[in-house]
Amino acid sequence: MTPPLKGLQAVAPRMGEELGDTVERANNSEGSSMSNENTPLCEMLSPNLLRGRAAFVTGGGSGINLAIARGLASVGADIALCGRSQDKLDEAAKELSQYNVRVLSAAADVRDRDSLGEAINSAASEFGRLDTVVAGAAGNFFAPAESLSSNGFRAVIDIDLVGSFHTAQAAFDHLRPTKGNILFVSAGQSKLPFANQSHAGAAKAGIDNLMANLALEWGRFGIRSNSVVPGPIRETEGMRRLSEPVGIERWNQAVALGRFGYAHEVAAIAVVLSSRLASYVTGARIVVDGGLELSGFGAISQALSAATPSD
Ligand code: COA
Repeated sequence: MTPPLKGLQAVAPRMGEELGDTVERANNSEGSSMSNENTPLCEMLSPNLLRGRAAFVTGGGSGINLAIARGLASVGADIALCGRSQDKLDEAAKELSQYNVRVLSAAADVRDRDSLGEAINSAASEFGRLDTVVAGAAGNFFAPAESLSSNGFRAVIDIDLVGSFHTAQAAFDHLRPTKGNILFVSAGQSKLPFANQSHAGAAKAGIDNLMANLALEWGRFGIRSNSVVPGPIRETEGMRRLSEPVGIERWNQAVALGRFGYAHEVAAIAVVLSSRLASYVTGARIVVDGGLELSGFGAISQALSAATPSD
């Protein structure tokens, strides 16, 4: 039995809340109004779809990863959030505790295999199982390749790619008995080049290849491995950095659906991939980008280069 990890904190769930109300409130807090793309997940899927299952989410304190954790919790999964900042995790865990699920938070840096492994072991021990691990932790900035330092390139490779490997490997022993699944959070840069993103593109391309490799290697254990590829998503740190220099309208023109996505639209696919609905899906790179990849990044990438954003 793995001893409880220092820094792993349980947050008591608040019972009796209406899941639909909670999800609606979460959506509204992102500035959205109710419409088709904002229908709460638990109205489209059973709120018990993942009841009794448990998930560990790296980078789960904010952004798309928190939205994925929220989506998993909204259909019943117990959640362990992992990130570098305990304060951020505590705030996120408090929000998720509004669902009728168990929520843990564990401060660990995905670059540190030992402390990440301890966090995953502790979460699996607390929950008694682990069904889904989300490798979402990422770092990024905007920098031209010619002036990017070796350390800068390596920092992103270490967090995104090496960190994702650590996450999958540390979860393996727990996913094997549950025939669980790994979900990698990739990016469009994994397939199409994007100016000033050589480091992130290399890291995310590595992640997609790692995803496919693990699907092949661990398929015999019943473990599925997939990646989700978010496009321009509202109110994320990454898109704030990429939309400020050229304006949102130019981005909208590059997207077939003509709009930014919501983080919960990525979460919906993550939930499906983590459930038995996707029991025969492994090795897949699922793009959730409103059709951005169809036109490539050329025009938007050139516009961003011309704007030479500072970060
Ligand atoms: N442009 C160029 N180089 C940069 C940079 C930038 N905007 N930001 C950081 N770097 C370089 C640093 O100069 C350093 O290299 P050096 O030692 O040669 O000077 C290297 O990257 C590591 O930076 P450091 O801040 O020490 O690393 P860190 O591990 O503390 O931070 C980062 C990791 C760099 C990825 C940081 O941006 C981060 O923590 N981001 C998390 C939040 C985030 O990126 N969110 C968006 C996710 S999509």
